[in-house]
Amino acid sequence: MKTIPLKIGVLVSGGGSNLQAIIDAVRRHRIKAEISIVISNKADAYALTRAGKYRIPTLYVDPKNYKDREAYTRAITDELKNRGVGLVCLAGFMCILTSYFIKNFPLQAMNIHPALLPAFGGAGMYGHHVHEAVLRSGAKYSGCTVHFVDEGCDTGPIILQQMVPVKDGDTVDTLAKRILSVEHRLYPLAIKYFAAGKLQVVGKRVCLLK
Ligand code: GRF
Repeated sequence: MKTIPLKIGVLVSGGGSNLQAIIDAVRRHRIKAEISIVISNKADAYALTRAGKYRIPTLYVDPKNYKDREAYTRAITDELKNRGVGLVCLAGFMCILTSYFIKNFPLQAMNIHPALLPAFGGAGMYGHHVHEAVLRSGAKYSGCTVHFVDEGCDTGPIILQQMVPVKDGDTVDTLAKRILSVEHRLYPLAIKYFAAGKLQVVGKRVCLLK
């Protein structure tokens, strides 16, 4: 009997290096799934070009065409649903979607955050702000977190985390670069576990089944 592969939708806003890591893992059959759609809120996101190179369908959904965040969320959610997407991966997506999205993809949407949650997360903690806050704090370690998306901001159940050292003399750029290369390993791994049905969520804890 042939099984229908998991369909992934990826939401992006920028360079898409995490998208690239996911594409590579799918192409190498490390993840048993297919990427059905890449959606961006920015017309010029390089992530769209990356997807286009592999003939992955792309969609630019302009927030300006919608009266509010709720209408915008509904448009994106409906696009994903209509394509039969079973997992949504937020990969540098700089828009906050409303609970309509979460209700349609309960424990079926993931995000990657460039720090060790629950530290250095929440409102305003994105991009360089995260690394600035880590450097200011004097923390010896940062890292990245893949988590399920819930109604809060960076509060969903944590799937995988990896520590990355903060080195003397680090700048936002050197730290961000060190963390990003770890993200590229961690995000595909979390998706691989999801696609293989190996993630079990018990309250806030995500257990990895053998
Ligand atoms: C990454 O640092 C990720 O942790 C954060 O946004 C950035 C996206 O980078 N959520 P890219 O577009 O995947 O290169």
